[in-house]
Amino acid sequence: MKVTVVGAGAVGASCAEYIAMKDFASEVVLVDIKEGFAEGKAMDLMQTASLNGFDTKITGTTGDYSKTAGSKVAVITSGIPRKPGMTREELIGINAGIVKEVTENLVKHSPDVIIIVVSNPMDTMAYLVHKTSGLPKERIIGMGGALDSARFKYRLAEALESPISDVDGMVIAAHSDTGMLPLFSKATRNGVPVSEFLTDEQKASVIEETKVGGATLTKLLGTSAWYAPGAAVSVMVQSILCDQKKMIPCSLMLEGEYGQNDICLGVPAIIGKNGVEKIVNITLTVDEQLKFAEAAQAVREVNGDLKFQS
Ligand code: LAC
Repeated sequence: MKVTVVGAGAVGASCAEYIAMKDFASEVVLVDIKEGFAEGKAMDLMQTASLNGFDTKITGTTGDYSKTAGSKVAVITSGIPRKPGMTREELIGINAGIVKEVTENLVKHSPDVIIIVVSNPMDTMAYLVHKTSGLPKERIIGMGGALDSARFKYRLAEALESPISDVDGMVIAAHSDTGMLPLFSKATRNGVPVSEFLTDEQKASVIEETKVGGATLTKLLGTSAWYAPGAAVSVMVQSILCDQKKMIPCSLMLEGEYGQNDICLGVPAIIGKNGVEKIVNITLTVDEQLKFAEAAQAVREVNGDLKFQS
């Protein structure tokens, strides 16, 4: 099955690389607006195929969306990434126009496509795609929770001094520095709640480091991260193409779930061949419910800056 990745920058190229390396897609089409850039990235990646042992065909195009026709999944990474000191929300002005146009082009050539939104501010960009694409809500999925959960597990393993494979945990709510909600109460080391092993001080530090995970990297790299975002996308795409039905926190349109309406926010969901197979309702503590509602309020304010007709 065919996957399109729009934006051949660091995040888009990493998505294509991880998808190809796992060898579950027949074809990955990279699209970029910079002349020859996607073609070059695709060729470079294809020259790793015999070395890394994959058969996925990677092609590139400079803005010719007819090449994306018949895609099962399309990943939107286009737009500008944040610079050190910027919040994801500050990117809305430029990225909204780009994401809207890209979506129109994708849907025109692949009416049955499932879209994964990566561009920031991600929850608002996912909302924009819902409002402008005409696609059913099951086929629009924001990537944030998978990435933020991976960063949470990294910080948990660090605090526990354990291998990452020992820990499990999930981050829901907004993909923003303040609106992320790492579910510490549900995180475990081999099924044992991590609160058995960590002090309150360690808990606070794990939560804080997780929430600013992207900002920390932006400061170090001078631009936003790409390896973990790319890997997170590849896990989501694989769950769709291979109908794995993994439970992944994703930014989804809520219609009453978690007490919210007409907003995209990170919640656990079963991801399979139809996109969102089911939103999973889990019990949150009173404090978590409060934080979820606060995150929703902040995202709603950012959504208010969108102009659908522009
Ligand atoms: C990050 C970007 C993808 O968190 O939002 O690294």
